This record gives sequence, C-alpha cells and structure tokens, in this order.
Amino acid sequence: MSKSVRHFLDISELPLSELRNMLAASTAMKAKLKAHEKVTKPLEGKTLAMIFERPSTRTRVSFDVGMRQLGGESIMLTGAEMQLGRGETIADTARVLSRYVDAIMIRILNHDALLELAAHATVPVINGLTRRSHPCQVMADLMTFEEHRGPIEGRTVAWTGDDNNVLASWAHAAERFKFKLNVATPPQLAPNKAMKDWIKATQAPIVLGNDPEAAVRGADCVVTDTWVSMGDKDGEHRHNVLKPYQVNEKLMSLANKDAIFMHCLPAHRGEEVTDEVIDGPQSVVFDEAENRLHAQKGILAWCFNEVA
Ligand code: CP
Ligand code: NVA
Repeated sequence: MSKSVRHFLDISELPLSELRNMLAASTAMKAKLKAHEKVTKPLEGKTLAMIFERPSTRTRVSFDVGMRQLGGESIMLTGAEMQLGRGETIADTARVLSRYVDAIMIRILNHDALLELAAHATVPVINGLTRRSHPCQVMADLMTFEEHRGPIEGRTVAWTGDDNNVLASWAHAAERFKFKLNVATPPQLAPNKAMKDWIKATQAPIVLGNDPEAAVRGADCVVTDTWVSMGDKDGEHRHNVLKPYQVNEKLMSLANKDAIFMHCLPAHRGEEVTDEVIDGPQSVVFDEAENRLHAQKGILAWCFNEVA
C-alpha cells in the first residue's frame, strides 16, 4: 500500500489509533447533524466512484448521502454496465478511474480483486463488502455498541450463524479493540484454516465453537447474519444445519440481561432471527443501519486525510 494513499480495506490492516480517530470523527459529525449545527464540507469538489458487482441498499445509499453531507458527490456504477463486465482488467479500471475520481468504493465478491484495485489505484479504495470481509459494517456496529453500552474493550460479543464476511470483520475488530468474541457456527460452516491461523498468530480474544447457548452466555451483544450470503450456493443445506443457530427469545434470554441484538441487515425474519427479537427491546438494528452513514463519513474523512 502506498504510504500517501489511505485505503480502507480491512480493520485488521489499520492501527487502533486511526480506527478510533475515525469513530470519534463519526460520533462528532453525527452529533452536529442531530443538533442541526452548521457543518463544514471537507469533501467539497471531491467525487467518489461506487462500483457494485452485487446488490445493496444500505451501503449504496449511506455512501451517497454521506458524500453529499460532506460536500462531495458520488457516481454509482455497476460492474455489469462497465467494461469490467466485458473483460477490462481490474488494474486498468483502477488506473483509469484514478484519473477521474478522488476515491473508489467497491462491492465485489472476489477479495483479491479488491486488493488488486487498491494496488493499482492512486486514490483511496474502500471495501464495501467482499466474500472475505465487510469492515464498513463492523465500524458502524462498533459505533452502535459504544453508543448503547459504552467502551467495547473487555466486553463480550457473541456470534451465532455461519462463518462469513461480517464475522471476519468482527474478528478483526475483536483483535484491534480488545473485546472477547464468542463464535458459534455449525462445524461444517466454521471459520477456515486461514482465519484460525490468524487468530492463533494474533492471539485475538476469540473463542470458536459450535454451541450457540455457550456462546451467548455472558454476552453483552448477540450478533447474527443471513444464512445465505451473496455468492453462497448451497442454500438448502445451510438452512438445515443453521436452524439451531437462530436468535430467538430463548437464546437471547441466556445472554446478559442488558445484552443488545445486532444484525447488519437485510434480515430473513423467521430464519436467522425471529420477529420477537429483531423487533424487541434489545434490538438496535436500525441504529446500526443508521450508523452506516455516520461511520462511513468518518472513514471517508480519514481516507481524505481530514482525520489523523
Ligand atoms: N448491511 C449491508 O451492507 O447492507 P446492503 O447490502 O443493503 O448494503
Ligand atoms: N453476509 C452477507 C452480508 C450482507 C450485507 C452477505 O455477504 O450477503
């Protein structure tokens, strides 16, 4: 990564101090917005290209609105409409877009393609979700946890479901922000060897297991996600093995009394979570969705060197 270009690719790639600065900027900008205070427009004249190889509601709208609130603008592109869809390389796409725009946000399943884009772009690249990780989501989740429950350091978060991109970013966050992450996945859908090796190498406070009840005991936050992520093909098999991992009132009752429930959305009600939980008093899912906007403004400000 070029020293002068600030890419936001993964939480595990960045020092805690800079991640903390982004979150502090997000919180300050959110407070000003809520108070209807006059805000500065640090990204005036700047353009963000947003490339979506896959569908999105939150990422697309929150980045677009965030750029506008910061004084800049965004261009929405889908991979299929670009020459990328007809075989132009990621590297050439990166070189060309860098001549037009000031930053690129991309949602692409192939994580290596994201890394290639960043390697050849001369402007900041932001990971808007790959098969491997979803760091913008977890920055919003950290902000949401701390708004509701204070500093996350030393607290316990429980994940129940399959191993996926959102879990990977939670794992990266657990290592950086020093909170405990209890993970319950079916054995067939457990984190892969690379993740297990990373946990071992970093000594991240992450406990992997297969029992959702054991994972949520003592948790301050219970998190789950869809059973079938974008790019997953074996939907029926996943539904069968993931049934015991549903977050319902019984499972929530085993967590700490004041535990909150998080889900990146979109939710599949009646599958990974019941209506009673997602609509219940412990759920903060819409604060979490809102915080995508605020957290990403902090990330954008950092990419543009407006935050240390
Ligand atoms: N949580 C999330 O990334 O939502 P979208 O797929 O709607 O962007
Ligand atoms: N794990 C989900 C997240 C969607 C925002 C997926 O990759 O489809």
